[in-house]
Amino acid sequence: MARHVVGLASAVASGERLVAEVAGRKVVIFNLGGEFFGLFNRCPHQGGDLCLGRTTGLVEAGSEPGEYSYTRRGEILRCPWHGWEFDIRTGKSRAEPGRIRAKTYEVEVKRGAELFDGPYQAENVQVKVEQDYIVVEV
Ligand code: FES
Repeated sequence: MARHVVGLASAVASGERLVAEVAGRKVVIFNLGGEFFGLFNRCPHQGGDLCLGRTTGLVEAGSEPGEYSYTRRGEILRCPWHGWEFDIRTGKSRAEPGRIRAKTYEVEVKRGAELFDGPYQAENVQVKVEQDYIVVEV
């Protein structure tokens, strides 16, 4: 697997997404409260563009009749074509999590210095990269 730098982490605010072309594939990268997750931009049902899907949360029953809570706001992605829903963190389908899932990619945030520091330093010149970058492993 190769690592690909796709952009600045600061360019994707919490709750937002970034669509990146990574090794010929479209990957949708989501920022969920500072954690980044990547999904292949192709729905496993019939190929809908997941990057165009709306995000939602879960309505979960409470312990008493009529009690419920809304949890995981923004962590469930609904495909724009037929409404299948996927957990952004795992890619698993909400309807059949054991059988259907959107392809996921490992995403991490690296300090610029971790990515670009190394043998490529000019003699007597201090090079620093301060910002964080989103890195996708494909
Ligand atoms: S293509 Fe995504 S739900 Fe049908």
